[in-house]
Amino acid sequence: MLEKTQNQIIHNEYGGVFPEIAAREHLKAIQYIWQDIKNTIDISRIGYIAVTTHPGLIGSLLVGLSFAKGLSISLNAELIPINHLEGHMFSVKIENNPSFPALFCLFSGGHTQIIYAQDWFDYQIVAQTTDDSIGEGFDKVAKMMSLGYPGGPIIEQKATNGLSDAFHFTIPMINSVDFSISGLKTQVLRTIQKIEHLDNTTVCNIAASFQKTISDMIISKLNKITQSYKTLSLVGGVSANQYIRKNLLKFCDNKNVQFLSPSLKHSTDNATMIAFVGLEKIKRNCL
Ligand code: KG4
Ligand code: ZN
Repeated sequence: MLEKTQNQIIHNEYGGVFPEIAAREHLKAIQYIWQDIKNTIDISRIGYIAVTTHPGLIGSLLVGLSFAKGLSISLNAELIPINHLEGHMFSVKIENNPSFPALFCLFSGGHTQIIYAQDWFDYQIVAQTTDDSIGEGFDKVAKMMSLGYPGGPIIEQKATNGLSDAFHFTIPMINSVDFSISGLKTQVLRTIQKIEHLDNTTVCNIAASFQKTISDMIISKLNKITQSYKTLSLVGGVSANQYIRKNLLKFCDNKNVQFLSPSLKHSTDNATMIAFVGLEKIKRNCL
């Protein structure tokens, strides 16, 4: 199998993703990736093309979809439209096989959802955010401390040198199964505004305290889920976070539930997870 992923480092310069820039970068990258593919595999053997159609930034989605449509015509291959979030759910299937009923914690830059699934393609969202996503929370807290983009990996790295009880942040909407990240973000902002000189030790302590609150928040929401499940999968970009993984593993061990998470390269956006949804759709004859 050939796997190609191109990260857009240009967003670091702007402290976030600018949709127009993302789409232009996508257009450039897709051509290089296609050249690589043509040099590596026999493209005449391609029978299906799985392509992300939604949800996401419309400009980037249009670039991918137009490219895939052109290919499907020239290669006479069938196009399979894929939901990006189902892609994240399938990211665990690349290396593992969850047992159903299963719970998916899908935490990315655009989404925060707990999904209860009886089977692949048979699921309900049982909790979600009422404002920002968890990934966005990491990105915004990193921005407040001028740490760059994406914030998740930087906050996680800073947190390893910080004290998670240095600052006390509360969990917004503690009695609800749904998430609120915006209120937590404001608590962090107010804390930063009160600090005269933000040295590295303080940055590390804020990062560790914020990360702990997010982890506690996830576990508090999971404790409110009434359905029973055999597997809990942590997916989406935030699943790259080792601290959150470790705490969810502990939570699952206590409940006698299997914990799964994709390998690091399949935690953040990648095309392999999209291909896996496509494969399952072909297998189940539900194109
Ligand atoms: O799934 P993803 O790659 O793209 C979207 O579909 O949005 O998720 C990206 C998000 C970003 O907000 C990024 O900061 C976050 O995932 N992320 C992390 C970590 N690595 C990426 N958050 C916390 N800890 C990490 N190590
Ligand atoms: Zn994603």
